[in-house]
Amino acid sequence: MTYTVIIPAAGQGKRMNAGRNKQFLQIRSLPLIIRTLQVFQKDEACHQIIVVANFDEIEDMKQLFAHYEVTKVQAVVSGGRERQESVYAGLQEINHDEGVVLVHDGARPFVRQEEIHQLINKVSANAGAVLAARVKDTIKKGSADQIVTETLMRDELWSVQTPQAFPVELLKRAHEGARTSEFLGTDDASLVEHIGGHIHLVPGSEENIKLTTPYDISIAEMILEGRKEDQHE
Ligand code: CTP
Ligand code: MG
Repeated sequence: MTYTVIIPAAGQGKRMNAGRNKQFLQIRSLPLIIRTLQVFQKDEACHQIIVVANFDEIEDMKQLFAHYEVTKVQAVVSGGRERQESVYAGLQEINHDEGVVLVHDGARPFVRQEEIHQLINKVSANAGAVLAARVKDTIKKGSADQIVTETLMRDELWSVQTPQAFPVELLKRAHEGARTSEFLGTDDASLVEHIGGHIHLVPGSEENIKLTTPYDISIAEMILEGRKEDQHE
């Protein structure tokens, strides 16, 4: 089954503290956004990529895509203040209701093709799927004055990653529904849950990190080193 992928890359990268959107950071001599896009460029099941960028970074992104021959990028559109608005802007570029759409953070370069395909296999008419890892720490809820109010059941908790995969029609309906009810979710699956859709949890790899703080750059280099030894790269 083929799919379209929307890549939100219109953040500020504040926690990375790099003085510039982290998407342009060089990770072992390749820009982060290019490392992420190459996974989809290489995947035959991916037939088009839609990138969401900050308005004033669109031209720089297009130049990078040309330079690194990321030929599947069909559109680079301007994002919004929240990630949810950025994904919505990307969705507007899909002018049909059939097929499968993936949403994947520009800041997650280590997802593997096998994981993407496992995810897509779980998608059905009223159900999406997300890559996720079981949490390792005990998770507690705390009040504003930092007093524990509840300890959650660890066996039931998952830390959710991207990609997240959905039928195009379902994700469009979920985003329209969220706009109408002014619901703001921290991922796309939560918008689908909000309108009663099902979401499958697909166990993913711990390597599929989102590069968020400077410490993650060291982890990224370690992952690349490991892959070189495995001859995967
Ligand atoms: N993103 C986006 N539009 C926004 C906010 C985020 O497209 N308004 C994208 C980011 O570019 C990133 C992904 O969503 O690829 C995940 O967000 P995050 O890791 O939080 O990145 P930033 O928002 O850029 O970082 P920070 O929160 O530290 O500023
Ligand atoms: Mg952010």
